[in-house]
Amino acid sequence: MCGIVGYIGPRSAVPIIVESLRRLEYRGYDSAGVAVLDEGACKVVKSVGKINNLAELLDQEPLEVKIGIGHTRWATHGRPSTRNAHPHTGNSGKLAVVHNGIIENYVELRERLTAAGANFTSDTDTEVIAHLLEEKLTNGAGGDMLEALRLASREMHGAYAVAVVSESCPDRLHVVRKESPLVLGLGQGEVYIASDITAVLPYTKTVMVLEDGDVGVLTVDGVSITGLDGRAIDRKVLEVEWDVGAAEKGGYDHYMIKEIHEIPDAIRHTMRGRVTPEGLLNITELNLSADEIRDLKRIYIVACGTSYYAGVVGKYLFERLLRIPTEVDVASEFRYRDPVFEPNSLMIVISQSGETADTLAALREAQRHNVKVLAIVNVIGSSMYRDADAVFPTLAGPEICVASTKAYVTQLVCEYLLAFHFARLRGQMADAEVNRLVAEMLAVPAKVQQILAQEDDYKTLAKNFLESQDFFFLGRGLDAAVSLEGALKLKEISYIHAESYAAGELKHGPLALMWDDVPVFVTATQTDLYEKTVSNIKEVKARRADVLALVRESNVDIAQHVDWVIKVPDADNLVMPFLTIIPPYLLTYWLSFALDREIDQPRNLAKSVTVE
Ligand code: M6R
Repeated sequence: MCGIVGYIGPRSAVPIIVESLRRLEYRGYDSAGVAVLDEGACKVVKSVGKINNLAELLDQEPLEVKIGIGHTRWATHGRPSTRNAHPHTGNSGKLAVVHNGIIENYVELRERLTAAGANFTSDTDTEVIAHLLEEKLTNGAGGDMLEALRLASREMHGAYAVAVVSESCPDRLHVVRKESPLVLGLGQGEVYIASDITAVLPYTKTVMVLEDGDVGVLTVDGVSITGLDGRAIDRKVLEVEWDVGAAEKGGYDHYMIKEIHEIPDAIRHTMRGRVTPEGLLNITELNLSADEIRDLKRIYIVACGTSYYAGVVGKYLFERLLRIPTEVDVASEFRYRDPVFEPNSLMIVISQSGETADTLAALREAQRHNVKVLAIVNVIGSSMYRDADAVFPTLAGPEICVASTKAYVTQLVCEYLLAFHFARLRGQMADAEVNRLVAEMLAVPAKVQQILAQEDDYKTLAKNFLESQDFFFLGRGLDAAVSLEGALKLKEISYIHAESYAAGELKHGPLALMWDDVPVFVTATQTDLYEKTVSNIKEVKARRADVLALVRESNVDIAQHVDWVIKVPDADNLVMPFLTIIPPYLLTYWLSFALDREIDQPRNLAKSVTVE
């Protein structure tokens, strides 16, 4: 996820900015840049790739300055390139901005500003901020940057943390925040800006965390915060006790649990820009024509590991909502099974990294047969992002733990939004039904937060399984699809053997393994399949296995049949997967924690599998 830094004070700003950017490297990035005021003149230096590339450029022409901003970019709008790297400037080149977040209405703003004479030089949403500020400075704000920021903020929809350096006010930096994190580090006669505390920790432990709607003016004399309405705000100053390692993990012990806690925001980000603030589905970014979507006869979903399991959910969804036969394949098998490619087909590849060798090979195989490929990827600029015919990125932010969690959930978000979009275009869902399901999805982040708030229960629950050698997962319908991912996560991190079966398969083999104390995690939230799943629970209990049941909050009768009950908030059957995956994630984490496993880097596994 993009990182913002900045400095104003008596010391040399460039080394501080570069060092602060390095501290944000763990967030992931594909380009970096700085903007400073050098004897009053705005200068921008940026480059693609690692911060070392930027540092080398800065070394070639050292800048001895006391004020500046910097940025690491994780591409969302426009590929990784120098022109898309931040900071961005307006026509005059006299002010520069760095931005973290998404300006949802940037297309409209860009059109309006272009018509008014703005000359855009990048593909980013961020550049509109620079042009908008230039416009406001001369038209409405009377040259006052603080007022220009307020006026611009009123026109920008979405999430943003922004820092600005400008020739018009050489003794100050400006910042504004809405829904994207921004902290200020407070030193003696100096102020630091950063997206998170990590970047300022080497310099100061005194910080101020900005909140939505805060606009800040930063000078060597200190910080002044006001609201968008101009009213003064007194934000708390905190003393942080974290060391740098803890700060990168946001205070958590591992990236895995940090990333699980990021799921609500990851869902929000992935929906943002695809659902209007009024809750209406609005997908305009797909490089597939309405006719191509209407004519679709078959969908192939191809992926590996967790992404494949997201594809299994997709199969249920596409077949149910679109009535299009949908095959879902493990990528390593796909091309070797000599698949039959039919006309009017679409391949959907799903990948967090966008680099998985088998999935890439499947993409190429489809293209060789003239089948279009749509990629659901998390890493913008990755091989799949570049090579697919259409892309629909997940906006989960970088995932650092080898085990995928927030990426899986956002892969589901993309599949759901695509299914609604396709179904509407094909006349299979009325607007009212699409709106109802989108509303259900908009309610998901708060429900996930409700589950996360009960995290302590999972710490306690995990203690029951410290000696377990095997774990079984059962479910029906969408519950079965999600159980596959639950079992993968458990085996991957805890090293406990875990298998997932469709509950209806029990009698066809696995029932032989149900005996004393074998833990069985049964998910039973699909209301139409509930009675049948309860019958399976009884079969398992009759063999003296231990059952942990995951049910809806409204379920009052399950407790009599099982050993432990976990509840998740009620929701439409279709959106239940967003909720039912959280308990297996939490149980996996706390069980692996108790077993002292290498949680973020489990043995023998890699984050990106770029070989067959
Ligand atoms: O980057 P991808 O999504 O293509 O990776 C696919 C799998 O390697 C990945 O999901 C793997 O199964 C994870 N370790 C699961 O947590």
